Amino acid sequence: MTDCPRIRYSREPRLDVSEFRRVLVESGLGPTRPIGDKVRLNAMLSAAGLILTARLEQPGYPLVGVARGITDFSWCCYICELAVSASAQGLGIGKGLLDEARRQLGPGVSVMLASVPEAVGFYERIGMARLPDAFCYRREH
Ligand SMILES: CC(C)(COP(=O)(O)OP(=O)(O)OC[C@H]1O[C@@H](n2cnc3c(N)ncnc32)[C@H](O)[C@@H]1OP(=O)(O)O)[C@@H](O)C(=O)NCCC(=O)NCCS
Repeated sequence: MTDCPRIRYSREPRLDVSEFRRVLVESGLGPTRPIGDKVRLNAMLSAAGLILTARLEQPGYPLVGVARGITDFSWCCYICELAVSASAQGLGIGKGLLDEARRQLGPGVSVMLASVPEAVGFYERIGMARLPDAFCYRREH
């Protein structure tokens, strides 16, 4: 039997853009994010109020998961990305990142996101409610 690695969850407001990009790619979210545009990726990181990371508790503390949120820490938080490297999926890290976000934001803050089709079952599984009345203007590029 192999031991499950221990995971360290932290807030990392200055997460390195290359590490962020690597986890996006490793998770499979790459085709849906501007991974070829470092300036845009940097802007996404620097303007986000909540950047949570999941790192393996082993030498080098490799990054295996990220949740990036835009929030006022008072009323609402929009989770722009939740990404777990494929090698670490299924270990509870995606749920762990959202649990940590909710713990840091507190019970007065709603947490919202838009799912990719493949992750809908995950959000249902962890008990997030679907919003039948959410709306958006889609970005053009
Ligand atoms: C979706 C994602 C964030 C889930 O993270 P994860 O660490 O693999 O998931 P967890 O291990 O925390 O899973 C929690 C539970 O959800 C279930 N689950 C995980 N992914 C699922 C899926 N795609 N569909 C249905 N259930 C899923 C797990 O089996 C687990 O169930 P359990 O409570 O019975 O053990 C991760 O797989 C990922 O990064 N995927 C690619 C990128 C992506 O789709 N991100 C979401 C963008 S909206």
